[in-house]
Amino acid sequence: MCGIVGYIGHQNACEVVLKGLERLEYRGYDSAGIALLGKDGFRTVKTVGKVADLKNKIGDSGLVGGLGIGHTRWATHGGVTDANAHPHSDEHNRLVLVHNGIIENYLELKEDLLAAGVHFQSQTDTEVAAQLLARLYNGNPLQALCELFRRCRGAFAFVILFNDRPNELYCVRKGAPLVVALGENEAFCASDVPAIVEHADRVVFLDEGEICRLDASGASFWDLNGCAHDHPTTSVDVDPTMIDKAGYTHFMLKEINEQGSVLRRAMSGRITEDTIDLSGEWGISAAQAKAFRRLDLVACGTSFYAATVAQRVLENYLSIDIRVDIASEYRYRPLKADADTLALFVSQSGETLDTLEALRHVKEKGAYTVAATNAPNSSIAREVNDVLRLNAGIEIGVAATKTFTAQLMALILAGLYLAKLRGELDEKDEKRLVSAMKELPYKVEETLTLEAELKALASKFSKARDFLFLGRGISFPVALEGALKLKEISYIHAEAYAAGEMKHGPIALLDEELPVVVVAPEDYLLEKTLSNVQETRARKAPVIFLTTEGVTAPADIAGLIRVPRTEPELSAFLTVIPLQIFAYEAALLRGCNIDQPRNLAKSVTVE
Ligand code: F6R
Repeated sequence: MCGIVGYIGHQNACEVVLKGLERLEYRGYDSAGIALLGKDGFRTVKTVGKVADLKNKIGDSGLVGGLGIGHTRWATHGGVTDANAHPHSDEHNRLVLVHNGIIENYLELKEDLLAAGVHFQSQTDTEVAAQLLARLYNGNPLQALCELFRRCRGAFAFVILFNDRPNELYCVRKGAPLVVALGENEAFCASDVPAIVEHADRVVFLDEGEICRLDASGASFWDLNGCAHDHPTTSVDVDPTMIDKAGYTHFMLKEINEQGSVLRRAMSGRITEDTIDLSGEWGISAAQAKAFRRLDLVACGTSFYAATVAQRVLENYLSIDIRVDIASEYRYRPLKADADTLALFVSQSGETLDTLEALRHVKEKGAYTVAATNAPNSSIAREVNDVLRLNAGIEIGVAATKTFTAQLMALILAGLYLAKLRGELDEKDEKRLVSAMKELPYKVEETLTLEAELKALASKFSKARDFLFLGRGISFPVALEGALKLKEISYIHAEAYAAGEMKHGPIALLDEELPVVVVAPEDYLLEKTLSNVQETRARKAPVIFLTTEGVTAPADIAGLIRVPRTEPELSAFLTVIPLQIFAYEAALLRGCNIDQPRNLAKSVTVE
């Protein structure tokens, strides 16, 4: 949430920072701003809107210099206004600062500053930090930053320029990510790797409580007590082509279409011949695996739905109690977890604050923790015992698509591997599932060819005000994910229910104006779901029936989509795809901003 970029060096900082901000726009995009430090002090331009609006505002103003910072905002404290956009400075323009995160005690700090006669220009918590830092600064940035750290509560990353230090840029991290990279006589910093990947293939991910100074000749690092230390670089495996639309109109469509290869990568190194083997990346022993008495799957949003599908699959194979929970709920629960609990956190970004706090909560109980994430250097990845990589490649569309698929595969394989170590996975089941998994990428690619049919369906229903999604068993979380995708990018209100629950309330909503998407692949619950379709049709609601090839569709339905056959436990890999495409096509017809839907951010680093 919020994207930060900083640059110092021989290039024009304005261009480098703006380009970096464009790459980070998925983190927030309600306002944007930039500040450069030149001979005459700071020049700051900020605006409500996107980086493109900022570029327009900068126009030909000749914003040129070798030192600059920029920001894209996702508003928390203070409305979406030019004044609240970052960078923020203090009243005497001694420094400018950009911020990602929240300063929880900002009101208390602001009251003290107001009492001391400080004048504020904005409603943000960030300006409080800028004003406070300026008062703490007496020519020694390190000392002032250590003190700022001590006084601010919450999670934050700051990048700061001091007016009297024209050759330095400072970064601090506490609870929000920052990465720095060094080039030939230049240095970069950003909230995430895509902003700087084209400049360097080795980076430093700042640690919690770390302060970094960048100048054209390199980087220096200190801890919160002002003690200097070295920080080795890490290589980054981001393929720069991943941050290109590759001819697609939207990143979301590109990412939907990547799911065949995403699945191949998610299985690579985990499936050999007809067996599942994760020993190369997950070093638990059979004795450890046998000692677990409980598996908690914890996540938010789409990741939570992937976890819920995995729970439904894995409870067929693991004898332990498998629970699934929303991170923002789990973190406040009086957990009964202990050292015999395996807690698995699912997060595409690895930075979701609710998930991170849930992880910390269960760690206090002594649980063994694992993260399934697309960001192996993220905050969550650093705090768990083991990491399962999604290897999905960067996902830029704000609505998660390919990472759902990668998460599902990683979770199912990890769970089956656990069952194997515990002696609970039958060899026949393993062979059957592995052989079906190997075919999945082809079947996903076949499902992607349904685009034209889904486009036609979307044009029939894109003006609907509400949608209902139904599914049972594995298909219930798929229905939830379908409804979430539709809400997120087309802004159509959509709800999902376990199909059997419809008669306990939502049935009251049914009429000819409410399209109902029924996710009903071939499995042992199909007949039950078909009965729910009859109940729906009896109340005249148009039904879009999503099923498997070969299933006889109910009469009198408004739309029929068939996906290839697979093993019933794996149906979600295929049924989710038409729902993603349907949401995409509906959003396109409604003229929505698909890759950057309103109010959303890709990485949710606030509570
Ligand atoms: C939906 C979506 C969100 C995320 C959620 C968790 O399309 O992207 O619901 O799934 O914010 O994010 P991660 O997986 O990064 O923890």
